[in-house]
Formats: sequence, C-alpha cells, structure tokens
Amino acid sequence: MKKRIGILTSGGDCPGLNATIRGVAKACFELMGEDNVEIIGISNGYYGLIHNLCKPMTPMEFSGILTQGGTILGTKRQPFKMMTVIGDDNLDKVKAMRETYQKQKLDCLLTLGGNGTHKTSHLLSQEGLNVIGLPKTIDNDIYGTDVTFGFHTAVDTATDAIDRLHTTAASHSRILVCEIMGNKAGWLTLNAGIAGGADIILIPEIPYDIDKVCDAVMKRAASGKSFSILAVAEGAFDKDEAKLKKKDRARKREEAGITTATSRIAAQIQAGTGIDTRVCVPGHMLRGGSPSAYDRILATDFGVYAAKLVASEKYGRTVAMVKGEITSNKLADIAGLTKFVNPKDQLVTTARRIGVSFGD
Ligand code: F6P
Repeated sequence: MKKRIGILTSGGDCPGLNATIRGVAKACFELMGEDNVEIIGISNGYYGLIHNLCKPMTPMEFSGILTQGGTILGTKRQPFKMMTVIGDDNLDKVKAMRETYQKQKLDCLLTLGGNGTHKTSHLLSQEGLNVIGLPKTIDNDIYGTDVTFGFHTAVDTATDAIDRLHTTAASHSRILVCEIMGNKAGWLTLNAGIAGGADIILIPEIPYDIDKVCDAVMKRAASGKSFSILAVAEGAFDKDEAKLKKKDRARKREEAGITTATSRIAAQIQAGTGIDTRVCVPGHMLRGGSPSAYDRILATDFGVYAAKLVASEKYGRTVAMVKGEITSNKLADIAGLTKFVNPKDQLVTTARRIGVSFGD
C-alpha cells in the first residue's frame, strides 16, 4: 500500500516554500521508495483542504523548484478564529477538512505555514488527523524554533532596501523611514536594521517615545551627520499606545486618520526636527524572490526531517531548529504562542552598544 501524503502551504507566502516541498518529496522518495509514496498536492492552503482541491503530484513536479520563490501549490489566508465558525454558507470547515482527508485516503498531512497555520494544524491533530507542521514565515515568530525558513532571505532583501536608502538620504540630507513587515514581532526589523546600519530601530516589543526618536535624530545632526535612517516594524507603537489593547489602538488610529505607523512617525519627526523626512515601504517585496543559500539549506534540512517523521509515523509535531539542531516540537506545545523579541535580547544590546536608538 502506497503511503498517501497530503501537502499544503498556508498563510502569506515566503521564499523557501518550494525548496521545503522539494526537500520533503525527495527525502520521502529516498526513504520509502518512489513506488511506495504518493504525494497529494492541496491547492491554496486550508481552503483547498476544505474544498477538496487535491491532485496527485509526479516526482518531476518537485524538480527545478529549489530556487523558485512563492509556492507551486498556491496559498491563501484562512484565519484560525473563523475555522470553527459556521458562516452564511452553512459550511462546517473542520468537518469538510476531515472529509477531504478521508476522501483522499491520506495517511498524513504536511502543513507549511506560520502561527495561524500551526493553530489549525493543532486543531486538525486534535480531530484525529495525522499532521506534521513546517515553520514558515519572514517574521521568524514561531514559538519553539530558533529560525523559520523565509526569514533570512527577507532579512537580506530588507537590508538591501536600507542600504539603498543611505545614499539618497545622505545626498538630500534627509531622514528616511523604512517600514518593514512584522505586525507583532520585530525580528525582521531588528536584524535588517542592524545589518543595514539603521540609526534608529523601532519594534513592537519596545514601545517608543517620539521625543526620544527626535532627540536621536538631532544628536546625529549635531555631530555633523546630516541624515538618519530608521528601520520601523509595521506593528511599532508608542508608549501611550502600549497602554491600550490592540483593537483600541487600531480604533484610535483610525479615528485620527493614521494609516500606517511609519506615516505618523515621519510626520512627527519632520515636525519635531524640521528635517525633511520620507517613508519607504518595501512591503511584499520582502516576501518575494529566490530563497537565499541559507534558506535553501534550512528548507532542505526541515523538509528531510519532516520526511523522517512521516516514515516513522510521528505525528502531531512540527519541525524546528533548537540550539542549532534540527528537531521537532509537539504541536500542542507551540500552537497559539508567539516568539517575541526579548528587549534584553543580546542583539538588542549589541545594537544599543553601537549607539542605535530604540526610541525608549
Ligand atoms: O505573516 C507574514 C507577513 O509578512 C506579516 O509580516 C505581514 O504583516 C503580513 O504577512 C502581510 O500579509 P498580507 O500578504 O496578507 O498583506
């Protein structure tokens, strides 16, 4: 009997998804023999599992995709909090996913995704499905793993954006505020900020005081540096907002007509310092392109480990890197948790020691 392995990619895409899919498939073929394995590709994440959008894939489909960005399976956001809610369509999504799993006669399901994906993976595992997760996200905020695939490539891309802002900022004696993805966690901004030589780094884990941000800009100006670069996480907020709940924060911003954190910060800096200030938003470019060498290796390592879990029928787990070792965590131990930057993290201290301001 062939082992039938379903595979899907869910949530925001990132570089390294295809490299991981390839790693899983090739290692499954090697470990169990090509004739004993059938890989079923599920289109557009959990949406495809709900609507039975499945097709068997040939080994050829896993070749030539190591370097390709995006995902050959397609992806879709399917918010966890809506998974158990029966909508106007009267569809029981959890039941539908269970039925697809049974109809497709799957032995297990591999889910490549971030925090939301892992919550649903855990739910399906509790429903009795054999699930194995793989940690994907440019945000690097999945609990229990040192790193997620896609993160390092995004750090490279964001660093390149910050590098390019230096010359234009210096030429015009301006402040440039670079908005970097990361709604909850500041890992990408922190890493790219340091690698790109940003002068000020603002992340959600360290609420800022705009006066301190302006002081840092003026201090540089007083020392003869006519420009400054800020790396700002899209989810950054100030010390007053830190006292509010997330939804109250969003409501207050909406009432004040503030569209993004960076647009407000730029306006406040310009008003507070009198220095011309501009915003740059690389946005979804950070999720695009070919995975870096690091991510290709990590994705392959993760994929191979997932195949070993399949071969040994160890389910209800997600692949991880812990202290440099590839291993796995129980879905139950990590689902619903987020890995935040600790304000006392060594990297934060390193940045502070070279004079980077966190606006606090
Ligand atoms: O979850 C990864 C992420 O890149 C976040 O950093 C960002 O807030 C979000 O995706 C943007 O998602 P979307 O593609 O839905 O706009």
